Amino acid sequence: MLGLGRIRAQPRTSRSWSFSEMDFDSKRKSNFAGKLLLATCLTVMCIIMIRHSPGFSGLSEFSRHEPGVTHVLVTGGAGYIGSHATLRLLKDSHRVTIVDNLSRGNLGAVKVLQEQFPEPGRLQFIYADLGDAKAVNKIFSENAFDAVIHFAAVAYVGESTQEPLRYYHNITANTLVVLEAMAAHGVKTLIYSSTCATYGEPEKMPITEETPQVPINPYGKAKKMSEDFILDFSKTSDMAVMILRYFNVIGSDPNGRLGEAPRPELREHGRISGACFDAALGILPGLKVKGTDYKTADGTCVRDYIDVTDLVDAHVKALAKATPGKVGIYNVGTGKGRSVKEFVDACKKATGVDIKVEYLDRRPGDYAEVFSDPSKIYRELNWTAQYTDLEQSLRTAWRWQQKHRNGYGSPLAMAI
Ligand SMILES: NC(=O)c1ccc[n+]([C@@H]2O[C@H](COP(=O)([O-])OP(=O)(O)OC[C@H]3O[C@@H](n4cnc5c(N)ncnc54)[C@H](O)[C@@H]3O)[C@@H](O)[C@H]2O)c1
Ligand SMILES: *[C@@H]1O[C@H](CO)[C@@H](O)[C@H](O)[C@H]1NC(C)=O
Ligand SMILES: *[C@@H]1O[C@H](CO)[C@@H](O)[C@H](O)[C@H]1NC(C)=O
Ligand SMILES: *[C@@H]1O[C@H](CO)[C@@H](O)[C@H](O)[C@H]1NC(C)=O
Repeated sequence: MLGLGRIRAQPRTSRSWSFSEMDFDSKRKSNFAGKLLLATCLTVMCIIMIRHSPGFSGLSEFSRHEPGVTHVLVTGGAGYIGSHATLRLLKDSHRVTIVDNLSRGNLGAVKVLQEQFPEPGRLQFIYADLGDAKAVNKIFSENAFDAVIHFAAVAYVGESTQEPLRYYHNITANTLVVLEAMAAHGVKTLIYSSTCATYGEPEKMPITEETPQVPINPYGKAKKMSEDFILDFSKTSDMAVMILRYFNVIGSDPNGRLGEAPRPELREHGRISGACFDAALGILPGLKVKGTDYKTADGTCVRDYIDVTDLVDAHVKALAKATPGKVGIYNVGTGKGRSVKEFVDACKKATGVDIKVEYLDRRPGDYAEVFSDPSKIYRELNWTAQYTDLEQSLRTAWRWQQKHRNGYGSPLAMAI
C-alpha cells in the first residue's frame, strides 16, 4: 500500500538529519565512541534500576497488594503504545511496573513518565528480557501484580516475512513465558495486544470478531498462535482475559509529552505515518504510493486508522470490565476506512509540507480494503473512537516529531 524510498545516506542541508546520520555513521566507524556511550548508558540505567528497585528505598509498594490500587505490569512500556498506555494508567491512579528490554523502546519515554509521576509507588521500570523465563519469574515473585497488559513484541509485517523466527520467538514464545509466570504467581487478569493482521485477507468487510482468522504473514500468525494458547489456557483457569485486535495505530499524546520514535534502521519497514513525517522532514525524498487501481473510491488502498489515545482508552475500559473466567475479544478501530490518498492529503495539511508523492504499480500482497466493525466493543465496553479526525491526529503527532527530531535521543540515554 505504501512503500518507502531507500533511506538516503548523504546528509541533508538541514540539521534535522543528524539523528540518522549519526546512527548510520557510528555503526561504521566510531567503535570506541559507541562502546563508551554504551558503558555510560548502562551505568545510568543501573542507577535508575537500583533507585527504582523495591529494596532500595525500603518501601516496597510494588511488592504488596493495596486495596483500591491496581498494580499493572505493562510489558513493552518503553515502546510507542505501551508508553501512552502507562501515562493513562498513571493518570487513572493505577500503579505501574514497566518491563522492557529497550530493544525497540526508549528509556527517554520512561523518563518522561517518571517526571510526570515521581511519587513513590507509582511507576517502576525494570530492564529485562521477556525471553528470559528466570528473570520474568523473579519479577513476578518480587512484585504483586494485579493485571498484565502485554504489549512487548516485534511488530513489522515486512520484517516478519524476512525474519520469521524473530517473530515466533519474540511474540509467541515470549507470550508463553509471560502467561506461565502469571499462572505460577496467580496473576489473574491479562489484556493482550493483538492485531487485525490475524485476519489475513478476509473477503467481507467490515471485519467483525467472527471474521475467520487466516493470517498471511509470520507477524499475524505469531499473534494468532498467542491468542490460541491464551484462549486454551483460559478454559482451564479462572483468568480474566481481554484480547484487543488493533487496526492501524496513529497519533500521539495530545499534550505533547510522548510520541512515536522507532529505530531509524526500522524505517524501511515503517508505517505510513512515520513515512509521512520522514518525508515532511526531508529524511525521505517523498512517499511512494503503490497501487492506484484497486477497487476503492479513489483507487488507493483503504485502512482503518485508530488514534493511540482512543486505543489506550479501550485498554482502560477492557481492564475495568475484565471478569474472572471470561474472555473478551474486541476489534479496536474506528469502523471507517480511509484511503492512502486521503491519508497523504491529511498528512500534507497537518505538516504544511507539500510532500512529493510518487504513484506506482501495486505491491504484491497488499489487499484493497481493511476496516473494522467496532460495534461489539461499543456494546460491551461502551467504547467508541473519539479522535477520528485524521488531520488532527497527524497534527498532534507532527508537533511532537518536529520538537523531537532525534526522537527521545539515543535509545538508552535519558534526556536529562
Ligand atoms: N503500532 C501498531 O500499529 C500496532 C497495530 C496492531 C498491534 N500492535 C501491537 O501493539 C504492541 C505494541 O506495539 P508498538 O507499536 O508500541 O511497538 P514498539 O516497538 O514501539 O514497542 C514494543 C516494546 O516492546 C519491547 N520489547 C520487545 N521485545 C521485548 C522483550 N523480549 N523483552 C522486553 N521488552 C521487549 C520493545 O523494547 C518496545 O519498547 C505490539 O504487541 C504490537 O504487535 C501495534
Ligand atoms: C532483548 O530481548 C531479545 C530477545 O527477545 C534479545 O535477543 C535481545 O538481545 C535483548 N536486547 C537487549 C538490549 O537486551
Ligand atoms: C528476537 O529473537 C531473536 C532470536 O530469534 C533475537 O536474535 C532478537 O534479538 C530478538 N529480539 C528482537 C527485539 O528482535
Ligand atoms: C458510555 O460512555 C459515555 C461517554 O463516553 C458516557 O457518557 C456514558 O455514561 C457511558 N454509559 C455507560 C452505560 O456507562
